[in-house]
Amino acid sequence: MERFDIISNNPPQTQQLGKNIGRLTLPGDILLLVGNLGAGKTCLTQGIAYGLDIDEYISSPSFVLIREFSGRLPLYHIDLYRLDLPEEIATLGLDDYLYGSGVCVIEWAEKGLNLMPSDFMLIRINYLDDIKRSFELEAKGTHYNKMLKELKAEKTYVPSNRHLNR
Ligand SMILES: Nc1ncnc2c1ncn2[C@@H]1O[C@H](COP(=O)(O)OP(=O)(O)OP(=O)(O)O)[C@@H](O)[C@H]1O
Ligand SMILES: [Mg+2]
Repeated sequence: MERFDIISNNPPQTQQLGKNIGRLTLPGDILLLVGNLGAGKTCLTQGIAYGLDIDEYISSPSFVLIREFSGRLPLYHIDLYRLDLPEEIATLGLDDYLYGSGVCVIEWAEKGLNLMPSDFMLIRINYLDDIKRSFELEAKGTHYNKMLKELKAEKTYVPSNRHLNR
């Protein structure tokens, strides 16, 4: 099992990490984001969207549980924050997205872990200080192991605030 730990020193670096991830995604990919309120899950998702050539700004889907964006591949931005009961999550029809041809990015994924297929990328985000976060990426399955190896080899981790305030 491949792992990759990396520190982000500011939001643009988180977005750059997301962009690098987004560029490597293939149809059907599942990226599970785990981290407290304000950890940076949506910030990372903004970068993933950018890596998928999506121009729209991704915001926190407070009341909308699933939002779809079109880019190089469709992006399904899913947020399970407001759901607690396993029954509620089960009725969302997540399978249509999980087994679809787009990329699923799921915030608060721990709430729906039992509904996930066996292979995915798990991304844990920890708050270090007001602008620093640690990212722990864990690959489950061959495809995601390969993706993580490619991500490790990626040299572009240049802070850029280009997409911060779109
Ligand atoms: N290195 C960093 N990476 C990401 N966000 C950071 C970083 N440093 C500071 N921040 C700030 O932390 C906040 C992260 O917010 P974001 O909406 O991405 O969190 P979230 O994990 O999606 O929260 P929620 O659980 O409410 O959806 C933003 O205000 C962002 O500017
Ligand atoms: Mg969020």
